[in-house]
Amino acid sequence: MLKKSPIPAKRASASVIIPKVSRKRFYGHGIPGVELEKLTGKLIVVEGADGSGRSTQIARLVEWLEGNGHATQQVGLKRSTLVSEELEQAQNGNILSRTTLSLFYATDFADQLENIIIPALKAGFMVLADRYIYTLMARDLVRGMDEAWLKNLYGTALVPDAVFYLNVSPEQLVQRNFAKNKALDFWESGMDLGLSRDMFDSFLKYQSLMARQFIRLQATYGFTVVDGNHAPDEINAELSHKVQSVLAGK
Ligand SMILES: Nc1ncnc2c1ncn2[C@@H]1O[C@H](COP(=O)(O)OP(=O)(O)OP(=O)(O)O)[C@@H](O)[C@H]1O
Ligand SMILES: [Mg+2]
Repeated sequence: MLKKSPIPAKRASASVIIPKVSRKRFYGHGIPGVELEKLTGKLIVVEGADGSGRSTQIARLVEWLEGNGHATQQVGLKRSTLVSEELEQAQNGNILSRTTLSLFYATDFADQLENIIIPALKAGFMVLADRYIYTLMARDLVRGMDEAWLKNLYGTALVPDAVFYLNVSPEQLVQRNFAKNKALDFWESGMDLGLSRDMFDSFLKYQSLMARQFIRLQATYGFTVVDGNHAPDEINAELSHKVQSVLAGK
Protein backbone atom coordinates (compact mmCIF):
# COMPACT_ATOMS: atom_id res chain seq x y z
CA MET A 1 0.00 0.00 0.00
CA LEU A 2 1.16 3.43 -0.85
CA LYS A 3 2.00 5.49 2.13
CA LYS A 4 0.63 8.99 2.18
CA SER A 5 3.34 11.59 2.09
CA PRO A 6 3.59 13.26 5.46
CA ILE A 7 1.87 16.60 5.74
CA PRO A 8 4.43 19.24 6.57
CA ALA A 9 3.98 20.34 10.14
CA LYS A 10 3.95 23.97 9.12
CA ARG A 11 3.24 25.26 5.64
CA ALA A 12 5.35 28.13 4.40
CA SER A 13 3.32 31.18 5.22
CA ALA A 14 1.67 32.45 2.08
CA SER A 15 2.15 36.19 1.79
CA VAL A 16 -0.19 36.60 -1.16
CA ILE A 17 -2.77 39.22 -0.39
CA ILE A 18 -5.93 38.77 -2.40
CA PRO A 19 -6.58 42.32 -3.52
CA LYS A 20 -9.81 43.72 -2.20
CA VAL A 21 -11.85 44.88 -5.17
CA SER A 22 -13.02 48.46 -5.12
CA ARG A 23 -15.12 49.93 -7.90
CA LYS A 24 -13.24 52.06 -10.38
CA ARG A 25 -14.41 55.36 -11.79
CA PHE A 26 -13.36 57.83 -14.40
CA TYR A 27 -12.42 61.43 -13.67
CA GLY A 28 -14.98 62.65 -16.19
CA HIS A 29 -16.75 61.30 -19.22
CA GLY A 30 -14.43 58.30 -19.45
CA ILE A 31 -14.34 55.82 -22.30
CA PRO A 32 -17.68 54.48 -23.53
CA GLY A 33 -18.51 50.81 -23.09
CA VAL A 34 -16.13 50.07 -20.21
CA GLU A 35 -17.68 47.86 -17.54
CA LEU A 36 -16.06 49.42 -14.52
CA GLU A 37 -17.21 46.69 -12.11
CA LYS A 38 -15.09 44.19 -14.07
CA LEU A 39 -11.84 46.09 -13.46
CA THR A 40 -10.58 44.05 -10.55
CA GLY A 41 -6.89 44.92 -10.72
CA LYS A 42 -5.25 47.93 -9.11
CA LEU A 43 -3.84 50.99 -10.81
CA ILE A 44 -0.84 52.39 -9.01
CA VAL A 45 0.83 55.55 -10.30
CA VAL A 46 4.32 56.77 -9.49
CA GLU A 47 4.77 60.43 -10.38
CA GLY A 48 7.84 62.59 -10.04
CA ALA A 49 10.22 64.79 -11.99
CA ASP A 50 12.79 63.56 -14.48
CA GLY A 51 15.41 61.55 -12.62
CA SER A 52 13.41 61.48 -9.39
CA GLY A 53 13.83 57.72 -9.11
CA ARG A 54 10.52 56.48 -10.52
CA SER A 55 12.05 53.63 -12.58
CA THR A 56 14.15 52.51 -9.61
CA GLN A 57 11.09 52.33 -7.37
CA ILE A 58 8.79 50.75 -9.95
CA ALA A 59 11.34 48.00 -10.69
CA ARG A 60 11.43 47.16 -6.98
CA LEU A 61 7.67 47.24 -6.59
CA VAL A 62 7.28 44.95 -9.61
CA GLU A 63 9.79 42.47 -8.19
CA TRP A 64 8.06 42.52 -4.82
CA LEU A 65 4.53 42.24 -6.25
CA GLU A 66 5.44 39.44 -8.67
CA GLY A 67 7.28 37.64 -5.87
CA ASN A 68 4.04 37.75 -3.90
CA GLY A 69 1.98 36.25 -6.67
CA HIS A 70 0.60 39.35 -8.39
CA ALA A 71 0.79 39.71 -12.14
CA THR A 72 1.96 43.18 -13.13
CA GLN A 73 1.77 45.41 -16.17
CA GLN A 74 3.82 48.56 -16.65
CA VAL A 75 2.81 51.64 -18.59
CA GLY A 76 4.28 55.10 -18.96
CA LEU A 77 4.32 58.23 -21.06
CA LYS A 78 5.33 57.92 -24.71
CA ARG A 79 5.01 54.15 -24.66
CA SER A 80 1.93 53.59 -26.85
CA THR A 81 2.31 51.48 -29.95
CA LEU A 82 0.10 53.98 -31.76
CA VAL A 83 2.11 57.22 -31.60
CA SER A 84 5.21 56.90 -29.41
CA GLU A 85 7.67 56.97 -32.33
CA GLU A 86 5.94 59.87 -34.04
CA LEU A 87 5.78 61.75 -30.75
CA GLU A 88 9.52 61.30 -30.26
CA GLN A 89 10.17 62.55 -33.80
CA ALA A 90 7.91 65.55 -33.31
CA GLN A 91 9.73 66.45 -30.10
CA ASN A 92 13.14 66.06 -31.64
CA GLY A 93 12.17 68.33 -34.49
CA ASN A 94 10.36 70.75 -32.13
CA ILE A 95 7.76 71.16 -34.85
CA LEU A 96 4.44 71.16 -33.01
CA SER A 97 2.51 73.94 -31.34
CA ARG A 98 1.83 73.57 -27.62
CA THR A 99 -1.75 72.48 -28.16
CA THR A 100 -0.88 69.91 -30.81
CA LEU A 101 1.94 68.47 -28.69
CA SER A 102 -0.45 68.28 -25.76
CA LEU A 103 -3.01 66.42 -27.87
CA PHE A 104 -0.29 64.10 -29.15
CA TYR A 105 0.52 63.13 -25.54
CA ALA A 106 -3.19 62.76 -24.79
CA THR A 107 -3.45 60.36 -27.74
CA ASP A 108 -0.50 58.35 -26.46
CA PHE A 109 -2.20 58.19 -23.06
CA ALA A 110 -5.63 57.26 -24.44
CA ASP A 111 -4.16 54.44 -26.54
CA GLN A 112 -2.47 52.91 -23.51
CA LEU A 113 -5.55 53.40 -21.36
CA GLU A 114 -7.81 51.63 -23.81
CA ASN A 115 -5.49 48.90 -25.02
CA ILE A 116 -3.23 48.16 -22.06
CA ILE A 117 -4.44 49.62 -18.75
CA ILE A 118 -8.11 48.66 -18.95
CA PRO A 119 -7.55 45.11 -20.32
CA ALA A 120 -4.86 44.48 -17.67
CA LEU A 121 -7.14 45.71 -14.88
CA LYS A 122 -9.89 43.48 -16.24
CA ALA A 123 -7.51 40.54 -15.97
CA GLY A 124 -6.81 41.45 -12.34
CA PHE A 125 -3.27 42.77 -12.91
CA MET A 126 -1.44 45.31 -10.81
CA VAL A 127 -0.82 48.11 -13.27
CA LEU A 128 2.16 50.32 -12.46
CA ALA A 129 2.12 53.62 -14.28
CA ASP A 130 5.40 55.52 -14.58
CA ARG A 131 3.74 58.95 -14.65
CA TYR A 132 0.11 59.62 -15.49
CA ILE A 133 -2.11 62.53 -16.48
CA TYR A 134 -0.72 64.75 -13.69
CA THR A 135 2.69 65.20 -15.33
CA LEU A 136 0.96 65.93 -18.62
CA MET A 137 -1.30 68.50 -16.97
CA ALA A 138 1.52 70.10 -14.99
CA ARG A 139 3.66 70.48 -18.12
CA ASP A 140 0.79 72.13 -19.96
CA LEU A 141 -0.17 74.35 -17.02
CA VAL A 142 3.42 75.60 -16.78
CA ARG A 143 3.04 76.54 -20.45
CA GLY A 144 -0.08 78.56 -19.72
CA MET A 145 -2.71 76.20 -21.04
CA ASP A 146 -6.26 76.32 -19.77
CA GLU A 147 -6.92 74.17 -16.70
CA ALA A 148 -10.61 73.53 -17.45
CA TRP A 149 -9.71 72.41 -20.98
CA LEU A 150 -7.09 70.01 -19.59
CA LYS A 151 -9.46 68.59 -17.00
CA ASN A 152 -12.00 67.94 -19.69
CA LEU A 153 -9.35 66.35 -21.95
CA TYR A 154 -8.24 63.97 -19.20
CA GLY A 155 -11.80 63.22 -18.13
CA THR A 156 -11.14 60.01 -20.07
CA ALA A 157 -8.69 58.86 -17.39
CA LEU A 158 -9.40 56.26 -14.74
CA VAL A 159 -8.99 57.37 -11.16
CA PRO A 160 -5.99 55.35 -9.88
CA ASP A 161 -6.10 53.33 -6.67
CA ALA A 162 -3.03 55.20 -5.49
CA VAL A 163 -0.79 57.98 -6.75
CA PHE A 164 2.64 58.45 -5.20
CA TYR A 165 4.52 61.63 -5.99
CA LEU A 166 8.26 61.35 -5.41
CA ASN A 167 9.22 64.78 -4.14
CA VAL A 168 12.92 65.42 -4.78
CA SER A 169 14.77 68.72 -4.39
CA PRO A 170 15.90 70.37 -7.67
CA GLU A 171 19.55 70.04 -6.58
CA GLN A 172 19.17 66.28 -6.04
CA LEU A 173 17.42 66.04 -9.40
CA VAL A 174 20.35 67.66 -11.18
CA GLN A 175 22.76 65.24 -9.49
CA ARG A 176 20.67 62.19 -10.37
CA ASN A 177 20.17 63.27 -13.97
CA PHE A 178 23.90 63.82 -14.41
CA ALA A 179 24.65 60.49 -12.73
CA LYS A 180 22.35 58.79 -15.18
CA ASN A 181 22.61 60.65 -18.48
CA LYS A 182 25.66 62.92 -18.11
CA ALA A 183 23.41 65.65 -19.49
CA LEU A 184 20.11 67.42 -18.98
CA ASP A 185 17.19 66.92 -21.36
CA PHE A 186 15.97 69.84 -23.51
CA TRP A 187 12.29 69.36 -22.66
CA GLU A 188 12.79 68.42 -19.02
CA SER A 189 14.81 71.61 -18.66
CA GLY A 190 11.91 73.59 -20.13
CA MET A 191 14.22 75.05 -22.78
CA ASP A 192 11.20 75.71 -25.02
CA LEU A 193 9.98 78.25 -22.47
CA GLY A 194 12.96 80.59 -22.78
CA LEU A 195 13.47 80.75 -18.99
CA SER A 196 17.23 80.98 -19.42
CA ARG A 197 19.79 80.36 -22.11
CA ASP A 198 21.74 78.27 -19.66
CA MET A 199 20.29 74.75 -19.53
CA PHE A 200 21.32 74.15 -15.94
CA ASP A 201 19.67 77.39 -14.80
CA SER A 202 16.61 76.66 -16.94
CA PHE A 203 16.33 73.14 -15.47
CA LEU A 204 16.23 74.48 -11.91
CA LYS A 205 13.66 77.15 -12.80
CA TYR A 206 11.52 74.76 -14.81
CA GLN A 207 11.51 72.04 -12.16
CA SER A 208 10.48 74.60 -9.53
CA LEU A 209 7.57 75.68 -11.75
CA MET A 210 6.60 72.04 -12.24
CA ALA A 211 6.79 71.35 -8.49
CA ARG A 212 4.49 74.31 -7.87
CA GLN A 213 1.93 72.93 -10.32
CA PHE A 214 2.16 69.50 -8.70
CA ILE A 215 1.37 71.03 -5.32
CA ARG A 216 -1.68 72.73 -6.87
CA LEU A 217 -2.79 69.50 -8.56
CA GLN A 218 -2.28 67.62 -5.32
CA ALA A 219 -5.00 69.74 -3.71
CA THR A 220 -7.44 68.62 -6.40
CA TYR A 221 -6.35 65.03 -7.00
CA GLY A 222 -5.08 64.22 -3.53
CA PHE A 223 -2.03 62.13 -4.31
CA THR A 224 0.38 60.92 -1.68
CA VAL A 225 3.61 62.88 -1.46
CA VAL A 226 6.64 60.68 -0.69
CA ASP A 227 9.96 62.22 0.30
CA GLY A 228 12.16 61.07 -2.58
CA ASN A 229 15.37 62.56 -1.17
CA HIS A 230 16.00 59.43 0.93
CA ALA A 231 17.95 56.33 -0.05
CA PRO A 232 16.24 53.92 -2.52
CA ASP A 233 15.73 51.24 0.19
CA GLU A 234 13.94 53.64 2.51
CA ILE A 235 11.64 54.89 -0.22
CA ASN A 236 10.96 51.31 -1.30
CA ALA A 237 10.02 50.32 2.25
CA GLU A 238 7.57 53.22 2.47
CA LEU A 239 6.04 52.51 -0.95
CA SER A 240 5.71 48.75 -0.34
CA HIS A 241 3.96 49.46 2.93
CA LYS A 242 1.55 51.86 1.23
CA VAL A 243 0.90 49.48 -1.68
CA GLN A 244 0.10 46.76 0.82
CA SER A 245 -2.64 49.00 2.21
CA VAL A 246 -3.93 49.57 -1.33
CA LEU A 247 -4.14 45.81 -1.86
CA ALA A 248 -6.00 45.43 1.39
CA GLY A 249 -8.47 48.03 0.14
CA LYS A 250 -7.59 50.56 2.85
N1 LIG B 1 16.72 57.45 -3.85
C1 LIG B 1 17.78 57.67 -4.63
N2 LIG B 1 18.89 58.25 -4.15
C2 LIG B 1 19.95 58.49 -4.96
N3 LIG B 1 20.00 58.18 -6.28
C3 LIG B 1 18.92 57.60 -6.81
C4 LIG B 1 17.75 57.32 -6.03
N4 LIG B 1 16.83 56.73 -6.83
C5 LIG B 1 17.38 56.67 -8.05
N5 LIG B 1 18.64 57.18 -8.04
C6 LIG B 1 19.55 57.30 -9.18
O1 LIG B 1 19.12 58.47 -9.90
C7 LIG B 1 19.13 58.23 -11.30
C8 LIG B 1 17.70 58.35 -11.83
O2 LIG B 1 16.91 57.28 -11.31
P1 LIG B 1 15.74 56.63 -12.15
O3 LIG B 1 16.19 56.26 -13.50
O4 LIG B 1 15.11 55.59 -11.30
O5 LIG B 1 14.77 57.89 -12.23
P2 LIG B 1 13.54 58.19 -13.19
O6 LIG B 1 12.65 59.09 -12.41
O7 LIG B 1 12.96 56.93 -13.70
O8 LIG B 1 14.25 58.97 -14.37
P3 LIG B 1 13.72 59.30 -15.84
O9 LIG B 1 12.84 60.51 -15.64
O10 LIG B 1 14.96 59.63 -16.61
O11 LIG B 1 12.96 58.11 -16.36
C9 LIG B 1 19.72 56.84 -11.49
O12 LIG B 1 21.11 56.99 -11.72
C10 LIG B 1 19.46 56.17 -10.16
O13 LIG B 1 20.41 55.15 -9.87
MG1 LIG C 1 12.61 56.27 -15.69
